[in-house]
Amino acid sequence: MSSLRGKRIILAVTGSIAAYKAVQLASDLYKAGALVDTILTAEALRFVQPLSFAAITHRLVASDLWTPDPGGGVLHVELAAAADALLVAPATAHTIARLALGLADDLLGCIALSTRAPLLVAPAMESHMYQHPTTQQHLATLRERGAVVIEPGVGHLASGASGVGRLAEPAEILGYLAATLGRTGDLAGRHLVVTAGGTREPIDPVRFISNRSSGKQGYALAEAARDRGARVTLVSSAELPPPVAVQVVRVETAQQMLEAVQAACRDADALLMAAAVADYRVAHPATEKLKKGAAPLTLELVENPDILASVRGPFVRVGFAAETSDLLANAGAKLRAKGLDLIVANDVSARDAGFGVETNRVTLLDASGAEELPLLSKREVAERVLDRVVRLLAERRA
Ligand SMILES: Cc1cc2nc3c(=O)[nH]c(=O)nc-3n(C[C@H](O)[C@H](O)[C@H](O)COP(=O)(O)O)c2cc1C
Repeated sequence: MSSLRGKRIILAVTGSIAAYKAVQLASDLYKAGALVDTILTAEALRFVQPLSFAAITHRLVASDLWTPDPGGGVLHVELAAAADALLVAPATAHTIARLALGLADDLLGCIALSTRAPLLVAPAMESHMYQHPTTQQHLATLRERGAVVIEPGVGHLASGASGVGRLAEPAEILGYLAATLGRTGDLAGRHLVVTAGGTREPIDPVRFISNRSSGKQGYALAEAARDRGARVTLVSSAELPPPVAVQVVRVETAQQMLEAVQAACRDADALLMAAAVADYRVAHPATEKLKKGAAPLTLELVENPDILASVRGPFVRVGFAAETSDLLANAGAKLRAKGLDLIVANDVSARDAGFGVETNRVTLLDASGAEELPLLSKREVAERVLDRVVRLLAERRA
């Protein structure tokens, strides 16, 4: 499931050495279900072949402003009107300047002026070119006009030098695209706080107690909420790459997570506690690494604060119950004891659901009853949970 499914994306490729990466980008967009029309500047044609894009996207690839429109209209006008987004990747310094100035002597320039779809620009060039005040000024102009500039990464450049200027990774570009297209979604204007990962409770400076939670379900929730227009704060103890356009607050322990959640929830509309918070912590963690000894080691554990119980909002509160037995009874008890609006119960003893894997099988439980969902991807589970959150928020407003 992808929020890019069925979206019409114009992928504009320009004359950067990174143009070859646009082929992978086109493939990823196609796999995400987007309808990709590709525009190549005259200089891009020196680096990549139109056929590569046509074979991957199965749609129009054009370079010349004077290409006849297959439907009998004017090509740049038709493409501009139908587009959901115009993505320039890689964007050269030259094209960035042309976009900022509004030059319209090629297909890309005409589409950029004609379309009302959001513009996303992913620069790729040598560091000095990128850092030049002219380039920076043109990027600032584009940002002021509402364009999304997908910052280049730092690393190995085509010249052999190392520095800023590498085209952002396809996953990052797709993330920005999904976030931009979702700006007017059913969670627009809402602030959602999501937690993810198993907390780590130190034993000594190098060891900790934790659990098998990967954080994947929480990250899927954060990305899905972002793609439906929400501002998302992700309080995470997971070792996963941060999702783009999401504010990530990194924590380790349950105590740190509590403090971060309390701070983030001050203006929250909903809290989704997908993290597996350790119930116990070591009472007195050692300040030095513990040495092996003859005597058995005994750790004294004390109970951690219950985060959901300690943040009572006016906001919607969604809990997660990972159980290995009596799933519904245990989850129901948690729902009532903590006064939650909804609880997502999953049997983590199943091999295809719960910790670490890409799929989940959950039951949504609220005061009105239980809805058992089939085996779904974690993203699909996230969407179903967010459908409920949207409904709960609407009920509160009413
Ligand atoms: C081998 C080679 C690699 C180039 N790579 C880049 C690049 O990565 N980024 C960039 O801004 N310009 C790069 N250029 C310069 C552009 O190709 C040049 O400015 C061109 O006019 C850009 O045209 P366009 O923006 O219309 O595609 C490169 C030029 C050459 C010869």
